[in-house]
Amino acid sequence: MKLSRLWRKPSARLAAAALSIAVSQHVQAAWQTLGAGQLETPHNDLVELSTASGARVRLTLLDAGTARIRIAPNGVFGRDFSYAIATQPKPVPLSVEHDDRANTVTLRASGKESMRVVVTLKPSVRVDVYDSAGELFLADDPAREMVFDPVSGAVQVSKQRAATELYYGFGEKAMPMSRDQRFMTMWNSDTPAYLPGADPIYQSIPFFISLLHGKSYGVFFDNTYRSYFDMGATDPARYTFGAAGGELDYYVFTGGRERSAANVLRSYTALTGRGSLPPLWALGYQQSRYSYTPDSQVREVAKTFREKKIPADVIYLDIGYMEGYRIFTWSKKDFPEPEKLLADLKNEGFRAVTIVDPGVKVDDDYAVYRDGRQRGAFTRTAKGDEMHATVWPGLCAFPDFTSPDTRAWFGSLYEKFLDQGVAGFWNDMNEPGVFLNADSDEPPMQHDPKKTFPLSTRHFGDGDPGDHARYHNVYGMQMARATYEGLRKLRPDSRPLVLTRAGYAGIQRFSAVWTGDNDATWDHLAMTIPMLTNLSVSGVPFVGADVGGFVETPSAELYTRWLQAAALTPFFRTHSAIDTEPREPWSFGADYEKINRESIELRYRMLPYLYTAFAAEEMDGEPVMRPLWFDYPHDVKTYLREDEFLAGRDILVAPILHSGETKRRVYFPNGDAWIDWWSGKRYAGGQEKEIEAPLNRLPLFVRAGASVATQPVVQSTNEMANVPLTITVALGTDGTGTLYQDAGDGYAYRNGETRRSTFTLKGKTLHIETNGPSRFQKIAFVEFAGADAAPSSVTIDGKTTNDFHFDATTRRIRVAVSNNTKEIELH
Ligand code: GLC
Repeated sequence: MKLSRLWRKPSARLAAAALSIAVSQHVQAAWQTLGAGQLETPHNDLVELSTASGARVRLTLLDAGTARIRIAPNGVFGRDFSYAIATQPKPVPLSVEHDDRANTVTLRASGKESMRVVVTLKPSVRVDVYDSAGELFLADDPAREMVFDPVSGAVQVSKQRAATELYYGFGEKAMPMSRDQRFMTMWNSDTPAYLPGADPIYQSIPFFISLLHGKSYGVFFDNTYRSYFDMGATDPARYTFGAAGGELDYYVFTGGRERSAANVLRSYTALTGRGSLPPLWALGYQQSRYSYTPDSQVREVAKTFREKKIPADVIYLDIGYMEGYRIFTWSKKDFPEPEKLLADLKNEGFRAVTIVDPGVKVDDDYAVYRDGRQRGAFTRTAKGDEMHATVWPGLCAFPDFTSPDTRAWFGSLYEKFLDQGVAGFWNDMNEPGVFLNADSDEPPMQHDPKKTFPLSTRHFGDGDPGDHARYHNVYGMQMARATYEGLRKLRPDSRPLVLTRAGYAGIQRFSAVWTGDNDATWDHLAMTIPMLTNLSVSGVPFVGADVGGFVETPSAELYTRWLQAAALTPFFRTHSAIDTEPREPWSFGADYEKINRESIELRYRMLPYLYTAFAAEEMDGEPVMRPLWFDYPHDVKTYLREDEFLAGRDILVAPILHSGETKRRVYFPNGDAWIDWWSGKRYAGGQEKEIEAPLNRLPLFVRAGASVATQPVVQSTNEMANVPLTITVALGTDGTGTLYQDAGDGYAYRNGETRRSTFTLKGKTLHIETNGPSRFQKIAFVEFAGADAAPSSVTIDGKTTNDFHFDATTRRIRVAVSNNTKEIELH
C-alpha cells in the first residue's frame, strides 16, 4: 500500500505516523507530487483543493495584494497559529472562476483591483501569481512540481527564475547584498567568529524581497522547522524553498500597484508586526565588554566617558556580574552593592543593561531553578525528564519559552533587577546554544548538531506540543518575547530595551538584534552593510554589529573606521570578547580618541533625525537603515551596491571599509542630487565620484530637497530636552522632510502626545508646518546646506532678518528662527 493513501484520511494519521517512524529506518524517503487537484466548493473567502496525493491546498487573499498559499501534505490543516504573525487578518471575499477546459481555478479579491492567483489543476497542482496589472511574476516551475515526503514530512516548492532576478532579506546572513544563486539554511546557530559565507548563523527569517527590472514582490515562508532557500544556486533557472516538516505555508506580497519593495515590506510588517519605538536613550551610544568586572571597572569606564566628554548613554554588564553565572543574581564579591552602583551610574547619566541567558543552573540551592522546576517550566526530554545541557554556569535546565505560563514566569523574574535600577536586558545564547563536551575526540564543528537541544526535546508550543525540530527556530524569539512582555507588565510606562541574538520572523515586535560574535577584521566591517541592511528589509529595524568586531583586537585604524561607519546604524554599541585588549573610544591613543569622540558626537547631533526615522518605522514600516536599491529600484547601479547605505530616507553614508584608504569612490543614486554634509558640494545622481576621506572624515551626503533635524552635541540623551534643534535643509531641489518628537519614553505618543513638523522646500523658500504641543525641543535654527553664496537678504514670515550667517567653507547659511516660524525665504 502506498503510504500516501494512509495520509489521506485524518483518522489514519496516528497509524501513519507510527508506521512512518517504524519504516523510516528501512524505507528510503521519496518525494511525492501533489497530483491532480480538484476544486472543493469554494467558500466566500477561501478556496480549497483536494489532490490525488491526499494533500490539500488552501488559498486565501489577505488583501488585494497579499495571497496565502497553504498545503497540508497529510490532508489535514494544523491549527492556524503562527509565532511570526502579530494579528492574523481576516481573508477578503473572493471571486473565483473555474475554467474546466483550461483546468484552472482563478481567484481574486472581489469587487476591486486585485492580484490574481491561478491554480492549474493537472497533471499536478501548480500555482501562478499575477499582479493587479496582469503581469505574471511568480510561477511554480512545471519541471519541478510541489512535493512532499510522506515519510520525513518534508515539503518543497520551486519557482521559475529570471536570470537577473535578485533577492534580499532572509534575515541575518553573512552574505553579500543580493542572495541570488545562494543556498541558505534557516536554523538558528551559535556560530562564534563566523566567516563571510558561513550559514546559518543566529537568526532565521524566512522572508525575502525579489527585485527584477525595478519591480519587487515578497515571499514569506512561515515554517519554523529547519528550512532552506536555494535561490538559483543549484540551477539558475529556478529557486526552491522547503522545510524538514510542517506545512508548505507561504505568503506572497505583490507590493501594490507599483510592485515596490517599500510596499512589500509594509505588507510584511503589517502581518508580522513593526519594531516598537525604542526609548530615546537606547539610540544613544552604548559601551559593552565581556565583562566589565568587578564593579569598579564599570564605574571607571562610566567616569572616563564623562571626564573625556565622549557622549554615551548605556553601559553593559556581561556574564561576569552574576554569582557563578546564575541568572538574576549578582556576584557577592564583584558586585556587592548593585543598587548603589546603578544609582551612581544613573547620576552620571548612564543606564545599565544586563545580560540574561536562558540556561538556569541546576542547583537545588538556587531559587530560580527550584521555582522553575516546581512550576514545570523547563523543557523535557522525549522520556519526560528535565532536559539538561551545559552552558556558562555548568549543567542547566532551560525554560520552555513556547509556554505562555513559562513566559509569564520568566518575565516576572526581571522585577528585582528593574527595582534595583537595571534599565534594559540582553538575551544571549538563545538559539539555543549549548556547549560541546570539551573532552570529546570529535572534530570541533561550527555547526555540530550537539550545539543545541536534542531534536526530540519537548516543547509546549503554545498548546500544540511538539519537538525541538519544530520549535528550535522560535526559541530565542519567544525568550525575547518573555522579556519584552515581562517588562511591559512590570513597567507599563517605560519602553523596554531588549537585545537578542536569536530570532525568527516577527522578532522586531520584541527586540533589537545584534549580529553576534563577529571578528575584528576589515572583512567583517565591510560585511556589516549587507548584513544590517538585509536584516532591515527583513522587517527588523533596530539592528547593529559589535563595533570593532567581537573576537580579537582591532587595530586603532580599524576600530576608528568601524566606529565611524557604525555611527548612523540603528543600534550603536562597542563590544569585545574576554581576551581582547581594552576597547573604549580612548583605548587607542589621543589622536584616535579625538576622532572617535567626533564619530560619537555625530551620532548625538543626528539623534532627532534618527528618532524620526524610528517613528516612521513604527508608523509606516519604513526601515531605518536601507540598502540603496530599496529607495532607487529603477537605478540598476544600486542593486548590488554594498559599500554604502541610507540612514533613513535622506542621508547617504559611504564609510571607509578598507585598511589604509583615505578616499573612496561613492555612487550617488540616480533620481536625486546629493549635498556633501561637510563641504556643501553638490553631486548629481547617477554617477560615481572619488571622495576624500581622511581618518577623521565619514563621507556623508544629504539628499537635495531634504530637511534633517539635528542638535548640538550632548553628553547623553538626558540632556536633549534643553537643547534647541537645527533643521538642515539641502538646497537645490524642491522636496520635503519631517521631524517627529515625543517624550522620548512611555506610551503617551500612542495617544497623540507628539509633535510633527513638515518642512517643504520650494526653490529658496522653506515652509514649516507644525502640529502638536510645543513642549518638546524647540527649533532655533535653520541651516541651508549647499549654498554657493551668501543671500542678499533673508525674510522670516515676511519680515527681513539680519540674524543669519553664511559659512563659505561648509556652504551653509545659518538662520536663527523661532519655534513658530512658518516661512523662511532666501533672496
Ligand atoms: C556570547 C555572546 C557575546 C557575549 C558572550 C559572553 O559569545 O555572543 O556577546 O559577550 O557570549 O556572554
